[in-house]
Amino acid sequence: MLAPKTPDKILIVDDEQEVGLVLKEYLDDEGFDSSLALDGSAALDMIVTENDFSVILLDINMPGLDGVTVLNRLQDSGCDAAVIMMSGQGSEEVAVKCMRNGAEDYISKPFAFEDMLQRIERARAHRLERLEKQLLQKEKEDFILMLSHDMKNPLTAVIGSIDIVREGCLGNVNEEQKEYLQSAIDSCNEVVVMIDNLLDIRKFEAGKIQMAINSYNAQELISKISDQFARAARHDGIELTVELEPHSSNIAVDKNAFSRVLGNLLGNALKFTPEWGKIVVSSKRITKDEMLALKIPSYAPIPPGTLDNACFVKLAVSDTGNGIPQGELERIFDRFTQFPRKTERERSGAGLGLAYCRLSIESFHGLIWAECEAGQGSEFVILLPCCP
Ligand SMILES: Nc1ncnc2c1ncn2[C@@H]1O[C@H](COP(=O)(O)OP(=O)(O)O)[C@@H](O)[C@H]1O
Ligand SMILES: [Mg+2]
Repeated sequence: MLAPKTPDKILIVDDEQEVGLVLKEYLDDEGFDSSLALDGSAALDMIVTENDFSVILLDINMPGLDGVTVLNRLQDSGCDAAVIMMSGQGSEEVAVKCMRNGAEDYISKPFAFEDMLQRIERARAHRLERLEKQLLQKEKEDFILMLSHDMKNPLTAVIGSIDIVREGCLGNVNEEQKEYLQSAIDSCNEVVVMIDNLLDIRKFEAGKIQMAINSYNAQELISKISDQFARAARHDGIELTVELEPHSSNIAVDKNAFSRVLGNLLGNALKFTPEWGKIVVSSKRITKDEMLALKIPSYAPIPPGTLDNACFVKLAVSDTGNGIPQGELERIFDRFTQFPRKTERERSGAGLGLAYCRLSIESFHGLIWAECEAGQGSEFVILLPCCP
């Protein structure tokens, strides 16, 4: 028997009261708990007040809000019910489009009740599968977040302890020992950066990130952060140069987030540049016209209002490393994107750094993109509005 064990709530949305009432009676006899709405807005009101329908049977042709509009509003509202479109003659094509737009199924009017019942059962089963998958995914993500968060404190303690030994506070340490201890600290720091990226991307997505935006001298900030990478570059046999123009420009950023953005870019440049390679960090002020003359790719849209600024700071980090395939330049800013690489070092990381960079830079009303020519290394460009 197809009847459900617990009465699932079904919403019938049909402007033909007669048809709706007969269907309701049939479904209630089959053990469902069904309700009828005679137009789109009444349906949306009911869904808002009783957000627990498992299936919605949605007529396409209705006066006022039609089924397609109601479906779109449902998608935006986050309603998780399975939707079966009911199409009249000539609206099958629309029904197929609705399925591409999130509807579970469609049925053509007039229909046999048995046929409708079968479709409802299938839609219910699919919905349960979908909800279970979503729950599992959420549990997995929550677990990773919790683990990451809890790992950070002991890791920071490990870094602190190793640093005390490395500094010679507990007795003499020779240069070779220092080198090994530093390398342990660097590895721990990489994990801390990864955790910070993950946790902050989550905060951005939940709209819970907190930024302390202030005006800073761009040159000072960039040179300070770059200096922190000088030792690692020397250690890897890479030449790191910083080219800053003499006159100063101010940018409005969160200092910590900006440091982490540049840190992620420099970390990547070091990771993907072989020995004897070169990394250049440069920054200069450009006018709005110079900015508009740049080849800014479409995946880095200019934020609204940004063009009210007369000048911008253009920060670039270029390297002579492996480069990135042209077609992949856009995708690297999505989270968890990494490409097959040869060495263990290049494979380290989680593909979160650039996603964090993009979210942060966007929160400063700036843009970030990558440029790359085959075999010529990569260049990451950031544009930030100058503040007075
Ligand atoms: N400077 C670079 N040179 C070559 N490839 C890069 C560079 N920066 C980033 N990439 C590519 O983009 C991917 C994503 O970078 P990122 O988001 O920082 O993640 P991760 O560093 O964890 O791999 C990298 O895995 C790499 O394939
Ligand atoms: Mg990275």
